[in-house]
Amino acid sequence: MKHYIGIAGTNSRHSTNRQLLQYIRQHFEDLATVELVELDDLPLFYKTTDRSVPAEATALAAKIEAADGVIIATPEYDHATPAVLSSALAWLSYHIHPFAGKPVLITGASYGALGTSRAQAQLRQILESPELDARIMPSAEFMVGHSLQAFDEQGNLEDSTLTKQLDGLMRDFGIFVDLNAQLTNSLAAAKPEWHETAETEA
Ligand SMILES: Cc1cc2nc3c(=O)[nH]c(=O)nc-3n(C[C@H](O)[C@H](O)[C@H](O)COP(=O)(O)O)c2cc1C
Repeated sequence: MKHYIGIAGTNSRHSTNRQLLQYIRQHFEDLATVELVELDDLPLFYKTTDRSVPAEATALAAKIEAADGVIIATPEYDHATPAVLSSALAWLSYHIHPFAGKPVLITGASYGALGTSRAQAQLRQILESPELDARIMPSAEFMVGHSLQAFDEQGNLEDSTLTKQLDGLMRDFGIFVDLNAQLTNSLAAAKPEWHETAETEA
């Protein structure tokens, strides 16, 4: 049984992206456990004078490191990822590297028809940056458009085309996680560079 961390890229109380992750957690419990984490405890990112990282960020980093993969559900604000998500990812790349080599599945929900396609593209670019260096599930863009109407009262996704797509995606993500475990060579090559940078800065 795989264990994933689910991150909704929001600090809103009510979120259809959180709803999407809750649906994934419940609907795929035969494939994986999904632990949902919140980002609103993390301070807005700033560079610390001693390169320390807040305890909330190291705690989240430890969960990500221990997990088999991460599922992110991003809203879209002004064609971009929400600031709370970008800020969290900055902490998670600041002298710590929990995403390095970590399989990530990007999803998203938004009220409009285009369902976060621009935010997802931006998130993919951020996660591919050298200090994050995540392994993003290829050829996968799962978008829930008109997300306020997408779930029934029990929290189930109503559109059967979407549920079928998600079913395939979740099964393939498990295979991707297994395949990714073999891709260790480039990762080993990247880590010394981080240490070198840290030493130069000190
Ligand atoms: C400031 C602001 C900008 C937004 N920009 C977009 C956008 O560019 N694209 C989009 O699909 N929805 C946009 N929306 C609507 C969001 O999809 C919606 O508010 C919500 O964040 C969806 O995610 P949530 O239910 O998890 O909060 C915007 C909403 C706000 C408040």
